[in-house]
Amino acid sequence: MPEKDDVTAVMEKAHQYGQGHVFKYWDELNDSEKQQLLNQIKAVDFELLRRLADEHILEPAEQSVAGVLEPAEIIPIPDSDELLQKADSAGKTGEKLLRDGKVAALLVSGGQGTRLGFDGPKGKFPAGPLSNKTLFQLHAEKIIAMQRRYKTTIPWYIMTSETNDAETREFFEENKYFGLNKKDVIFFTQRMIPAMDENGKFILDSKHHIFTNPNGHGGTLFSLYDSGSLADMKKRGVEEIFYFQVDNVLLRMCDPVFLGYHVQDNAEMSSKVVPKKHPMEKVGVLGIMDGRLSVVEYSDLSEAEMKATNPDGSLKYDGGNIAIHILNLKFVEELVTGKLRLPYHVAHKKIPYLDEAGQLVEPKKPNGYKFEMFIFDALPFTNDSVVMEVVRDDEFSPIKNATGDDSPATAKQDLMNHHARMLTKAGVQVPFDSEGNVKGSVEISSLFALDERDLKEKIDKTFVFRDNLFLE
Ligand code: UTP
Repeated sequence: MPEKDDVTAVMEKAHQYGQGHVFKYWDELNDSEKQQLLNQIKAVDFELLRRLADEHILEPAEQSVAGVLEPAEIIPIPDSDELLQKADSAGKTGEKLLRDGKVAALLVSGGQGTRLGFDGPKGKFPAGPLSNKTLFQLHAEKIIAMQRRYKTTIPWYIMTSETNDAETREFFEENKYFGLNKKDVIFFTQRMIPAMDENGKFILDSKHHIFTNPNGHGGTLFSLYDSGSLADMKKRGVEEIFYFQVDNVLLRMCDPVFLGYHVQDNAEMSSKVVPKKHPMEKVGVLGIMDGRLSVVEYSDLSEAEMKATNPDGSLKYDGGNIAIHILNLKFVEELVTGKLRLPYHVAHKKIPYLDEAGQLVEPKKPNGYKFEMFIFDALPFTNDSVVMEVVRDDEFSPIKNATGDDSPATAKQDLMNHHARMLTKAGVQVPFDSEGNVKGSVEISSLFALDERDLKEKIDKTFVFRDNLFLE
């Protein structure tokens, strides 16, 4: 039975902020349901939510005048001896960092994967083209391979959210952490934030629960700190944090060249980018906005900016953000213990709600607003930052949608093509069609070969690729 004083104080506060309706069914609830609702409401930052309702729903400001945008400096894909030498030297620096145990991997996996429509954490999605290995397993095997190569430990921090934490942990437990040491896989949970309807009111999705969503991947920085994971990293001697998202099947785990450039520049937060597929591609680009490095979302770019070119004809704003970053641990610590406030982005979405009769309704069109923070909004806080261009076909193919672009089908094909090119580079003849797709099927486990360097050592050049190859 919740304490009476406690109940009164929480109810008063909710009323004071115009959210008293969340207690509409209070008298129908049993003790445990009352406690659940109370706990949920207690955790709400009412001031923040009031501000968000005012700014984004009730009195949205006119679109702010766009600032002055300039291109960011980008390390290009090496195409000269000089650049190759620089990359080589960066790689050596990064490798030392890995050998010295100063790198942690940080996976954000708290999202809800609504576009994919998969039931469960997206990391459980089977993405191996032949093996059907899950995204979690593909990432885990890369970490194991890197640990072996550099005789090191790369502690792996995984951010979940309330919606998938238990299921994610269970999955790792059931799968014996895919061969990793349990003590080096650390889970932490991000915060949730209430969504609001068209009138800025919280939305009940059951009589004792308001609808909340994970607070976006920008929430990572705060939750790393709150959960004690940042302190744990420090205790382990970690200095740099390699950030990645769950759905990219081509992720190059803890890339030493990227790490090397980042530390050689004393960078605080660095980013990988890929050239856009075409000028109007709907992707955020790295640019300097009003003097600060930022990711400028495509919706904030004018058509002229999207199509603007340099004197040599190349696109002026061509560094597409692929959400792979390195964050310096001290930088994160300073941000979260300082005055860091990341902006909230709002999205108009379909949110389940209780109708007048108390029945759950799944709306057919958007009926409310969700709020999220984005990790890349930490970039303007940096003084030094590296932006490194990489080959999309080798490093970025996310699973976002059920079909079409960025779907399981494209990701699996991209992974097979990547593995086929690894074989080619290792000296094996592999046929491709006119679109660059391998003729046949191929999958190479990271435990067999992380890249062509490993493959060259393991595979005989006389090896003949037929049409189906799985190397494990
Ligand atoms: P997306 O923005 O693509 O979201 O997340 P999503 O949840 O995977 O898919 P949709 O938009 O609902 O269809 C990119 C990465 O950020 C993580 C996701 O798990 C994914 O790895 N993420 C997103 C979080 O960890 N927390 C969040 O609140 C949002």
